[in-house]
Amino acid sequence: MFLFLIFIINILLLLTSSSSSDLRPGFYSYTCPQAETIVKNVMKKALLREPRSLASVMRFQFHDCFVNGCDASMLLDDTPSMIGEKLALSNINSLRSYEVIDEVKEALEKACPGVVSCADIIIMASRDAVALTGGPEWEVRLGRLDSLTANQEDSNNIMPSPRANASTLINLFKKYNLSVKDLVALSGSHSIGKGRCFSIMFRLYNQSGSGKPDPAIDLGFRKELNKLCPLDVDQNVTGKLDSTPVVFDNQYFKDLVAGRGFLNSDQTLFTFPKTRGFVSLYSKDQTEFFKAFVEGMLKMGDLQSGRPGEVRRNCRVVNAHFLSQHKKMHNNDKSM
Ligand code: HEM
Repeated sequence: MFLFLIFIINILLLLTSSSSSDLRPGFYSYTCPQAETIVKNVMKKALLREPRSLASVMRFQFHDCFVNGCDASMLLDDTPSMIGEKLALSNINSLRSYEVIDEVKEALEKACPGVVSCADIIIMASRDAVALTGGPEWEVRLGRLDSLTANQEDSNNIMPSPRANASTLINLFKKYNLSVKDLVALSGSHSIGKGRCFSIMFRLYNQSGSGKPDPAIDLGFRKELNKLCPLDVDQNVTGKLDSTPVVFDNQYFKDLVAGRGFLNSDQTLFTFPKTRGFVSLYSKDQTEFFKAFVEGMLKMGDLQSGRPGEVRRNCRVVNAHFLSQHKKMHNNDKSM
């Protein structure tokens, strides 16, 4: 009876949860009160296993929310009839640690089957990744639904290149109602994690087709990067995005001021007048950075497509496929 009641409450909540204004803190407090603790515990385990995986999971929020809203579309595996986002230009050979989300989902399905969406898992896990590496902690708004499809082309068209300059990035973020301040603060996510040589070869050897390196790179740092990424390097070799890549702090901004930003899209924030002031401010005042970062994450987390959705049972597949797969397995078992 109790479980049935929970089920009914859940259905009612889901029916009313499709627009961002319906997102709210404590969304699962009746239907899955342990949800946030479960997510955090899996993230703690991931931190012990591989510290970088927290950065990799945190990046999901950006790659999910910018492409048709925060709906976990980027977690869907390709199917014969759908080319998903995992192999999109910015994601292929780059997004990683999908298995951490699988682990969270499995734990949540055990505790409260069919209740917590993968889109909300991304939002909670990103928040925890920041807090567990030394950054701020904040209350997240929940109640998102998972998409029924994914779109590789949209991801290709939307997600910015590491070559992007500040004015391209300002225009992109503006489309999502995110300000110049949000752009700079959210770029501070590169305080944790790594990037591939692939993402910086052009700025080391041929910035804007000049045949020369990006003049904004500090000379000593350029030597380090040349050593890490020589012209004949395996471009999957990785370097730190800032000098303290497992600690979420304002070192990223100090590095930018010193000309030691890893990506062109990072360094351009200090070169460009409209963004430079925020970089300077955050390099001196970590509290201001943390405050602006939380605001930016909340705003980005509110992006919604308004399309119909569901709570996926497995974050990699839509429920129709998941259920038909299970039915097949069940029938095979019976015929054996
Ligand atoms: C402003 C535009 C942005 C651009 C152009 C950009 C681009 C990139 C690139 C090129 C990488 C390295 C990928 C690789 O070489 O494989 C990266 C890594 C990363 N990005 Fe961004 N990014 C941006 C904004 C963001 C935002 C808003 C977030 C999150 C809020 C984010 C979180 C991360 C994290 C945590 C990593 C490290 C991931 C890891 O170690 O696996 N980025 N980004």
